[in-house]
Amino acid sequence: MHNLDAAGHVRGESQYLDDIPVQRGTLHAAVYGSPLAHGKLLSLNLEAARRAPGVVRILTAQDIPGENQIGGIVPDEELLAGSHVHFQGMPVALVLAETEPQARAAVKLITADIEPLPIITDPREAQAKGELIVPPRTFRLGDPAAAWAECAHIIEGTAENGGQEHLYIETQGAYAYPTDGGGVRVHSSTQGPTAVQRHTARVLGTGMHKVEIDVTRLGGGFGGKEDQATTWGALAALGAFVTKKPVKLVLGRHDDLRMTGKRHPYTSDFKLGLSADLKLLAYEVTFYQNAGAAADLSPAVLERTLFHACNTYFIPNVRATAYSCRTHLPPNTAFRGFGGPQGMFVIESAIAKAADELGVLAWEIQRRNLLQDGQVFPYGQRVEDCNAELSWQAADQKFELKKWQAEVDAFNQQSPVRKRGLAVMPICFGISFTKTAMNQARALVHIYTDGSVGVSTGAVEMGQGVNTKMIQVAARTLGISPKRVRLETTNTTRVANTSPSAASATADLNGKAVEMACRELRTRLLRHAAEDLKMNYEGLEIQDEQVLAAGKPAETNWEKLVSTAYWKRVNLSENAHYATPDLWFDQTQEKGHPFAYHVYGTALVQATVDAMRGTYDVDAVRLVHDFGQSFTPGIDRGQIEGGLVQGLGWMTMEELIYNQDGRLLSNALSTYKVPDLYSVPKVLDVEFLETPGHPNAILRAKAVGEPPLMYGLGAYFAIRNAVRAFRPDVRPEFSAPFTPEKVLLNLYAARESA
Ligand code: MTE
Ligand code: MOS
Repeated sequence: MHNLDAAGHVRGESQYLDDIPVQRGTLHAAVYGSPLAHGKLLSLNLEAARRAPGVVRILTAQDIPGENQIGGIVPDEELLAGSHVHFQGMPVALVLAETEPQARAAVKLITADIEPLPIITDPREAQAKGELIVPPRTFRLGDPAAAWAECAHIIEGTAENGGQEHLYIETQGAYAYPTDGGGVRVHSSTQGPTAVQRHTARVLGTGMHKVEIDVTRLGGGFGGKEDQATTWGALAALGAFVTKKPVKLVLGRHDDLRMTGKRHPYTSDFKLGLSADLKLLAYEVTFYQNAGAAADLSPAVLERTLFHACNTYFIPNVRATAYSCRTHLPPNTAFRGFGGPQGMFVIESAIAKAADELGVLAWEIQRRNLLQDGQVFPYGQRVEDCNAELSWQAADQKFELKKWQAEVDAFNQQSPVRKRGLAVMPICFGISFTKTAMNQARALVHIYTDGSVGVSTGAVEMGQGVNTKMIQVAARTLGISPKRVRLETTNTTRVANTSPSAASATADLNGKAVEMACRELRTRLLRHAAEDLKMNYEGLEIQDEQVLAAGKPAETNWEKLVSTAYWKRVNLSENAHYATPDLWFDQTQEKGHPFAYHVYGTALVQATVDAMRGTYDVDAVRLVHDFGQSFTPGIDRGQIEGGLVQGLGWMTMEELIYNQDGRLLSNALSTYKVPDLYSVPKVLDVEFLETPGHPNAILRAKAVGEPPLMYGLGAYFAIRNAVRAFRPDVRPEFSAPFTPEKVLLNLYAARESA
């Protein structure tokens, strides 16, 4: 089944926030953001803006009726700056005007007197000054301190990765209406409707029951709207609450780029010990996460970095420590992979460095250390149903790694100006929110008297195809055509207390709830059929809308069944609750069973570097991925392709630059390069690994949203191998992205005097 949204998207019919017809009397909002990254707010000069054409009202922190606080994990983030500003672009005032251009023009007339305070942009400096968001965390396995003595080789180094702009096509925004009884209804472009609801209620000083959040779909989220949609939802709601008029707030691209947080940059130190036969024996790593000016989701992202610090390798002795460092950048946030990619980049860098020093190929080390069943992750969970070896072997068999390597070497022998590099990128990604309590979901299913079905869940459609999956689950479970099923908007009054659509777990969690609700309805309907037609309940089923008794067509079909059930006063609605079984984590020990299962895969990546220009092509990515039993293969393949290209972009060309004043310099698409059609590898093979899937995965189809991003890391190491094919004497430092500038700096680095 194809993505049900596809036709609407290509015809331009799909509704996004900005397509909602504007109500009469609507005010349009624009945000005045702090011009300085850190300082004491002495005064705000609003007079000129107040007198500007069309301006109705300007709101500041003083106008907040409730608490000026939107911090989710740590209460450290004001909605509108009170006494201090903490990053450039931090919202300080909200202008409400009759039109959007008027609101934006008025913002330009606002000035502020700010007493500058010292600005920190470097996470190591923040850590040295004790500026931490939360206390550091350490995961331990075995005893690395004792293990060093047994290591034949010890490799030390540092690795750095930059941030990444989400660049969802639809910018952040919300449209809020005052409702009867002093509440608000907010259409929000958010992955986390409940987060917007909770913080809006807090800001307004009212109950969550008076705040309704509704989401039709997002034009992309990628983690950027998991927590950071809250600001705009709460600001629009504040405007509607105060003025009693609808308020629409949609960020222009430029404001979105400079005001919102991004993927976290990290700088990390590693020490890796190997035996003489290339077994990884010990690993010590320290991560410094650039959290930005407020906690946002940083502590959770930090945690996932620790969970994925060893990627898909077994290392018996590990000590991984992570610091979440407070700086004066916009608060960094979730981004596809959620800290996992940062952790994996460091272990892959350590392995690459070991390969350089030992004169072997990195994949010789990778291959010897893949996880196996019966081993244990550093966080205490046993390795079960492990497909690390399986996916590696399948990739090796299908794509002939040794032969491919020989072709690359042969090409390099005869090609002086262009050289190739090959890298293998195996992945292992844990599925579940690492905060155990968040692994719950609910679904509300109505069967209408004509046999059509409405399904509501907490899942937010952001392009990943979750709506299509939910419809499939409902149709399959009820035994009816997907055409009869409609997926309703995600709305907090229909499905409450939702977890955000994130952690790749949306289809699993919400799908299981849909499956439970539909099973219950099916049972109820078949019990009614048994009674009504005086048949044996055992052996009754619904297939293709026909009721079958012991495999043979019975006297009734779906429509008749539903109709007669209604007249017999059978309840045709069901609300189900699902909580992932067997999850726990003890943070005092840093041990537990945090994940429902793991997703594996192996990618082979080839890049060709041009020595004259420093440019490169990622020519080919051929991978084997562990989808389990995919029931939407087209959508799932699309997730692999999109995730991979997003990962390639992060690793090769997307370079976020802030200056020392905390100002974003790469603040437009002319200075921030993202992958386009030409960046997509010409050869992109996605092979489905034959596996039974996992019972905790919806219909045994494993979660697919985030894992493929990490195949993109292979591009970094492929480029690096190509650079080393020109200059075996250089050891490019580990600093992502590997931009063409860095390629040239390495190719033309001074030769060490012999
Ligand atoms: N795919 C599209 N097209 N748009 C998105 O915003 N977000 C990604 C991934 N794939 C995203 C996407 C992220 S960050 C996550 S966590 C998952 O989808 C969320 O959806 P899922 O849980 O249904 O996989
Ligand atoms: Mo995805 S980063 O968990 O929204």
